[in-house]
Amino acid sequence: MPTTTPPNVAPAQWLNLHEYEAAAKAVLPSPIFDFVAGGSGDEVTLREAPAAFDRWRLVPRVMQGLHEVSTASTVLGLDVSMPVLIAPFAAHRLCHDEGECATARAARSARTIFTLATPSTVSMEDVGRQAGTWWFQLYIFRDRGLTRELVRRASDAGASAIVVTLDMPIFGRREADERNRFTLPPGLEFVHMPKETKAPSTMPGSRVATAVNSIFESALTWKDLEWLASLSPLPVVAKGILHADDAVRAIEHGARAISVSNHGGRQLDSAVAALDVLPEVVEAVGQKVDVLVDGGVRRGADVLKALALGARAVMIGRPVAWGLALDGERGVLQALELLRGELERDLVLCGRGSPGAVDRSLVRSVTPPATVRPASFPR
Ligand SMILES: Cc1cc2nc3c(=O)[nH]c(=O)nc-3n(C[C@H](O)[C@H](O)[C@H](O)COP(=O)(O)O)c2cc1C
Repeated sequence: MPTTTPPNVAPAQWLNLHEYEAAAKAVLPSPIFDFVAGGSGDEVTLREAPAAFDRWRLVPRVMQGLHEVSTASTVLGLDVSMPVLIAPFAAHRLCHDEGECATARAARSARTIFTLATPSTVSMEDVGRQAGTWWFQLYIFRDRGLTRELVRRASDAGASAIVVTLDMPIFGRREADERNRFTLPPGLEFVHMPKETKAPSTMPGSRVATAVNSIFESALTWKDLEWLASLSPLPVVAKGILHADDAVRAIEHGARAISVSNHGGRQLDSAVAALDVLPEVVEAVGQKVDVLVDGGVRRGADVLKALALGARAVMIGRPVAWGLALDGERGVLQALELLRGELERDLVLCGRGSPGAVDRSLVRSVTPPATVRPASFPR
């Protein structure tokens, strides 16, 4: 019955993405595992991401006479084998020596989109030579000349979109990284960032945080987004949006798509779960704008819930890092195919033939109604 042709890769020994995480924990040095897995503060937002998915249940339909089921979709008009894209995350070479190149090749084999982060450990030109469809994630630097230059390089290297991350006016406080005095191991560097911003070795806390705070623009306004959108014909995706009004303003100021995200719980702790605000963002910007969501997607059923609540596609971050740590390019491809297989099976079980056939009627909230405290409640 399935009609999406999977790439030729044998399944791994890990049965689901949770097992990938446990296996990666066993092989990665603990400061690196902590850097990837961790969130900010008390990690309330990090824990909230899977909890938000658990507050929804699927309502399947039977007797649909499905002869064909395909996970294929489009995002910003680009064909993908599934509505699951690779989120931008820093420093893939922490997980595997081939770093972002391995991830990009896996995404190409899986026929999905790879997003290369500004803090990458491989140059965008090297990635561009090996990737299929890829996007470049941009932080706007205080140095606007450098920002402009990165957009030009991304365009020349073959990127199909610029994903501008708006939720990092300052680095979130990730306490595990501070405890570990986390820094890139010798031999690795953020190749797109100015070398002179490397923090001195006497700096307390996470040296990555210190370096980043000194170079990224902390006082962005909507005019900066307009400026960015004017730099190239590439569509701009506004990432890190959690409020419907911000989504509307982002579109008004030149963004072509919205990524609803709290940065994997790594920025503002106690920020709302992205899934919880997804429906209001979709309602505000309308069906014509592609809305992406990320944070805590670990199962095919999670993808379905996000689609039912109005997302065009989801992005995944940490599961890709786990696949990379375990088996490089093949590990990432296996992790992606695992999720695609789950999505395909769940589509069949839900009686839907494609992502496009998923609508709001597929999900039901199981959140208990909030207890409203009566006005006369004794204090
Ligand atoms: C180790 C790590 C580094 C990240 N670096 C970036 C980054 O450089 N730029 C960015 O926009 N988001 C970054 N993110 C956030 C991801 O793009 C994404 O929002 C998040 O990982 C999604 O949650 P998930 O990991 O639960 O799938 C990073 C996430 C992780 C885990």
